[in-house]
Amino acid sequence: MIEHDLPLHNWQNTLEEISNEIRPLLSKGKVADYIPELGTADKQAFGISISLINGSEYYVGDALTNFSVQSISKVFSLTKAFSILKDDLWKRVGKEPSGNPFNSLVQLENENGKPRNPFINAGAIVVADCVVSNTEDSLNLIIDYIRELAGNKNIQLNQAMLQSEKSFGHRNAALAHFMKSYGNIESDVDEVLDFYFGHCSLSMNCQDISRAFLYLANHGVHPRNNRRYLSASQAKRINSLLLTCGTYDAAGDFAFRVGLPGKSGVGGGIAAIIPGLLSICIWSPGLDKYGNSLAGVKALELFTTKTGISIF
Ligand code: DON
Repeated sequence: MIEHDLPLHNWQNTLEEISNEIRPLLSKGKVADYIPELGTADKQAFGISISLINGSEYYVGDALTNFSVQSISKVFSLTKAFSILKDDLWKRVGKEPSGNPFNSLVQLENENGKPRNPFINAGAIVVADCVVSNTEDSLNLIIDYIRELAGNKNIQLNQAMLQSEKSFGHRNAALAHFMKSYGNIESDVDEVLDFYFGHCSLSMNCQDISRAFLYLANHGVHPRNNRRYLSASQAKRINSLLLTCGTYDAAGDFAFRVGLPGKSGVGGGIAAIIPGLLSICIWSPGLDKYGNSLAGVKALELFTTKTGISIF
């Protein structure tokens, strides 16, 4: 276990420096619009929140403005599925980087409908099926679970986003039906997709997300409510997958530049953790060609460079 002596560090200054340095990059990314409702995001928005295990918190910019969590929510559904199915989960979904875009279909046919990892859309849909097939009222259950992790009862589904996801989610529907044909989706496809689109359509802010990720920085126990969500070994495994697969076909570049386990979403959020110390969430809606926040990845790179702290 890495347990950091809390460095005598001026976190607020670091966040403000990053925020100033990053401004020129905000115009460079492209806001996602393949889900039309995402296209309404303000490209100039930028926020960072950090939550330390010791309870201290710092933020800058638009860290308290809600945005669409999108794929960041896959971490919470994976946590739920892993805590229910334990290692049986890995019979249904792999643990290897895909090297392909997050919504790609190409590997599934050669690999018998078993997705490479739980963070690409195909993998997250299998994870969604694992939750839906083993729980009642699954969408409300996962929303309450995320509210509990974030310590915020006011987290809500964005209905306009949900409708937009459902109306334009043909690729996800294709993935789900294809995997069903291989027997790797147990429940009704529409039910599984409703759950998947539902958790992707939640609105949260950077502070909600940095707080929610703290259990992964603290070996499975959430320091804000003292509940254990995963065993230390399971938390290690999710962090390992975040490092190798959390930013899709840019995971190698992300690990190289940032050196932390992290998860992005096409809403422009990106969350990362430093085991034993803190979790961080950055939001900037302009994306790079891989679907990761362009300024967000750069800001994380600056964060580990300026503080000198990463997992390596
Ligand atoms: O299914 C989708 O395409 C979206 N709901 C989530 C994709 C996503 O956030 C990919 N992340 N960078």
